[in-house]
Amino acid sequence: MTVRWGVIGTGGIARTFVGDCTAAGVVFTAVGSRTQESAESFAAEYGIARAHGSYADLVADDEVDAVYVATPHSRHAEDALLAIAAGKHVLVEKAFTITADEARAVVDAARRADVAVMEAMWTRFLPQMTMIRELVAEGRIGRPRLVEATHHQALPDDPTHRLNDPALGGGAILDLGVYPISFAIDVLGAPSAVAAAGTLSDQGVDTQMGIVMTHEGGTQSTVHFALDVRSPNTASIIGEDGRIDIDATWYTPTTWRLRDRDGVVVEEFDGREELAGYAHEVRAFEAMIESGDHEGGAMDPEETVVVMAAMDEARRQVGVRYAADSASSTAR
Ligand SMILES: NC(=O)c1ccc[n+]([C@@H]2O[C@H](COP(=O)([O-])OP(=O)(O)OC[C@H]3O[C@@H](n4cnc5c(N)ncnc54)[C@H](OP(=O)(O)O)[C@@H]3O)[C@@H](O)[C@H]2O)c1
Repeated sequence: MTVRWGVIGTGGIARTFVGDCTAAGVVFTAVGSRTQESAESFAAEYGIARAHGSYADLVADDEVDAVYVATPHSRHAEDALLAIAAGKHVLVEKAFTITADEARAVVDAARRADVAVMEAMWTRFLPQMTMIRELVAEGRIGRPRLVEATHHQALPDDPTHRLNDPALGGGAILDLGVYPISFAIDVLGAPSAVAAAGTLSDQGVDTQMGIVMTHEGGTQSTVHFALDVRSPNTASIIGEDGRIDIDATWYTPTTWRLRDRDGVVVEEFDGREELAGYAHEVRAFEAMIESGDHEGGAMDPEETVVVMAAMDEARRQVGVRYAADSASSTAR
């Protein structure tokens, strides 16, 4: 079975994702935009046959099996629910939604409609991460005690840019923080406690934030992220008998080293790839569609809800509030 993909949104990541995945053999049959012009120009650029001037028309297209949502975070829940209501499987860009309540609603709707839904946390599907997960499970670093990861980028400071605009889910946490938070939860499980401190912009979104999470058995993770500075962006999983150091840029195809207790390298891997690496998540999602088993996997939708809840709590402590928080049952 060939999964035929439709794309919602024609912005930055839609371009990178479609370019990368097309080169890897993924089949895109349609694109939907808020304007017919954008849809047509995107379709022409990427060799896509069908161009729709609305998201509703895209999800109604019979030649589309799965929809990739590449709109700002603030639209993710609405756009995902639109696709689910049309009976389409849906891969939703990170951060999956604005709040855990929105995430819960999307995951539950997909389950009721018997379609697959997944957050496009592509890092989890890179071969390097699959290997690292196996090494940890095999006990190669002993019991993991600590995860450290950062995500710092120097991004545009234009107040109207979606990254800075609270109405579009701006701020570092949903765009950048989601990577190290999701990574820590992948390795150590759901946090039992979240302690966050951050700095807000004039518009009330976080420009930088540090979070310490406590996980099962007193294990901890420390993550830091910012959208106004650049750093090497490395990550480590530190265990009782050794550690795994993932080099810059840890959330993209890169290199890692497994070290013993004394710091001596005992294994290393070069995961750098020619393409950006987005096709791995797509292939995993297609396999989920083909198997008919829509639960679990490397980015289990239930774990996405856990990640969103950790971000809700960190935002609450730092004072980052979005419109969706007012509708949320956890809003305080
Ligand atoms: N996985 C990754 O590596 C990665 C990288 C970057 C971003 N992302 C995620 O992808 C999503 C989109 O990010 P992006 O950087 O691609 O954003 P972007 O360049 O601003 O594109 C977003 C697109 O969404 C559509 N849209 C719908 N309502 C909009 C509104 N009110 N304002 C602006 N655009 C609107 C537009 O497409 P139409 O005009 O065609 O409707 C627009 O081109 C975010 O959730 C982000 O976190 C993921």
